[in-house]
Amino acid sequence: MAGTILVTGSTGTIGGEVARQLIAAGIRPRLLVRDPAKAREFEGKADIVKGDLGDAASLERAMRGVEKLFLVGSGVDGQALEAKAIDAAKKAGVKHVVKLSLLGAQEEAITFARWHRPVEKQLEASGLAWTFLRPVNFMSNMLGNIGSIKGQGAFYQPTGEGKTSVIDPADVGAVAVKALTEPGHEGKAYPLTGPEALSGAEQAAVLTKALGREVKFVDVPPDAAKQAMVGTGMPAAYVDALLDLLAAMKVGRTATVTDSVQKVTGRKPGTFADWARRHAAAFK
Ligand SMILES: NC(=O)c1ccc[n+]([C@@H]2O[C@H](COP(=O)([O-])OP(=O)(O)OC[C@H]3O[C@@H](n4cnc5c(N)ncnc54)[C@H](OP(=O)(O)O)[C@@H]3O)[C@@H](O)[C@H]2O)c1
Repeated sequence: MAGTILVTGSTGTIGGEVARQLIAAGIRPRLLVRDPAKAREFEGKADIVKGDLGDAASLERAMRGVEKLFLVGSGVDGQALEAKAIDAAKKAGVKHVVKLSLLGAQEEAITFARWHRPVEKQLEASGLAWTFLRPVNFMSNMLGNIGSIKGQGAFYQPTGEGKTSVIDPADVGAVAVKALTEPGHEGKAYPLTGPEALSGAEQAAVLTKALGREVKFVDVPPDAAKQAMVGTGMPAAYVDALLDLLAAMKVGRTATVTDSVQKVTGRKPGTFADWARRHAAAFK
């Protein structure tokens, strides 16, 4: 019988997909969560362990008897948290870690890549089996624009004509589930993208159709985007990392389209139009 799969980040976007899709496949995962109240949808379907990636004792408890780990770090401290989790996984005898990383992490050209690559390197040197999922920007990031789309029929982004091959989080989850449940993914790094690269204006056109009312893309100067992000209370280091990514988007560095989703899952990645139709209600 297959050993236990521990999923981190299950109250977030990709970890949530992974937990839901494992459960749908008839597997009962273990979930490390900071606040079990946020994981109510998984009650009775998963073993929920309260803990924190920064707390060694809770990591030790959560990792006991685990064979495979789905690892999500997030925020400015993500790298340090993931480092702790990898140390704990090694101590606990975990065999395989599937790490959520970032498209182009290996090039370390942008700040987020420079946060992820050291964790990848730690795994490469750990003696554990590893798989790196390196997705481009998630389609779900558009949910961060609900306020302005509802209020002003627009979203504001300093990306000009730059195109991004946005990916449906469900596809990242599907690749993770394959890597966690089938052999042959050890030592692989998958660059994951959606099926086509779209500019902000093209995404706005897709949303306009899905919502049945006009949505505009407004290109803004990076400084204006910075002021808006600082105004939300985001840590300065995170704002700078985002601006770095947005600048890369503007010059087309996130426009690559890969066939990894299809190769690993056997089906084509979902389109932004599909995603927008499924999430239209959230913008109304
Ligand atoms: N967004 C994108 O377009 C994109 C693209 C490529 C790669 N990525 C990478 O994807 C990762 C983020 O994934 P996501 O968007 O799925 O995450 P998310 O939705 O932001 O959720 C983060 C998850 O991590 C949990 N978490 C945070 N700190 C924790 C801690 N100290 N201990 C235990 N759990 C903790 C959160 O739990 P709580 O619910 O308790 O907060 C939540 O479940 C980042 O590494 C990012 O660089 C993102």
